[in-house]
Amino acid sequence: MDSLVNGSIKQRPKWLQPICPIDSRLTPPETGQIPLRTLQFKRGLLHELRKGNATKEQIRLHNLVQQLPRAIIIGVRKGGTRALLEMLNLHPAVVKASQEIHFFDNDQNYARGIDWYRGKMPFSFPHQITIEKSPAYFITEEVPERIFKMNSSIKLLIIVREPITRAVSDYTQVLEGKERKNKTYHKFEKLAIDTNTCEVNTKYKAVRTSIYTKHLERWLKYFPVEQFHIVDGDRLITDPLPELQLVERFLNLPSRISQYNLYFNATRGFYCLRFNIVFNKCLAGSKGRIHPEVDPSVVTKLQKFFHPFNQKFSQITGRTFNWP
Ligand code: A3P
Repeated sequence: MDSLVNGSIKQRPKWLQPICPIDSRLTPPETGQIPLRTLQFKRGLLHELRKGNATKEQIRLHNLVQQLPRAIIIGVRKGGTRALLEMLNLHPAVVKASQEIHFFDNDQNYARGIDWYRGKMPFSFPHQITIEKSPAYFITEEVPERIFKMNSSIKLLIIVREPITRAVSDYTQVLEGKERKNKTYHKFEKLAIDTNTCEVNTKYKAVRTSIYTKHLERWLKYFPVEQFHIVDGDRLITDPLPELQLVERFLNLPSRISQYNLYFNATRGFYCLRFNIVFNKCLAGSKGRIHPEVDPSVVTKLQKFFHPFNQKFSQITGRTFNWP
């Protein structure tokens, strides 16, 4: 740690500076706002709590609370929402709600009230922020107003992928569900293209969900564009760290997630997470399915269809993508 001498910061000698990213994660925060070092050491306690092992006394002693989320990953389904949540949870000031809670999109849950929602949140230290993800929020009509009523200054994260890849990923998930039940299902091409008109079938949910700008416009009736941060889900797959650093900045968190926390697993073909020297994990096997081949003429038709919507989405959000 650098020390204060005569009111100025004295750099510690080079040989004493941390050489490994895990060391640097234990140095005090630049901002002085969040006692990250303390939080880092106490994470084990939060883990015990999640398993239901912590006592009431421990909760009281450590001043642990169940906090409403200060940021929500509102979508998009199959954009990489789970990877984003798990990767953000590497940050010592972030605590994730493990399950999708579906409070704002499910009328029955919503009727249970805000205390029910808070009760679904994990225990955390007061300086930490809780994040939940429920991808259905992005496309559900009533959700923006409901979230606005809870907290009009909440931070909203949206992770998007190239729209056709996302639609095919969505299709693949449904297809897998059907196959598990020994049911047959249409080919993607048959669902995505209206056979009567030969035009893109906008009634097909996987196509509609990928029209990002249409959904975002509904949200913008309630929240200013500055309250949203768009994560490039394709880059989160190939090079996650820069995307995560942008999110850290958006959430006003000191930069703590490092390359040490992310390692490429060649067998999975994805980045996996390293929390510390003993604990690492990859996402479940249901993330990273093999997609079916799609007829190139259908892909071209879909590209033409999505192009103007993609352009509008970029204009509104100020983010550009490597999409055709
Ligand atoms: P595919 O299964 O189509 O490859 P979601 O969590 O929103 O359902 O998104 C699932 C997608 O997350 C996967 O889609 C996968 O491509 C993507 N993903 C991004 N980073 C990943 C990672 N590190 N490990 C596994 N999947 C990841």
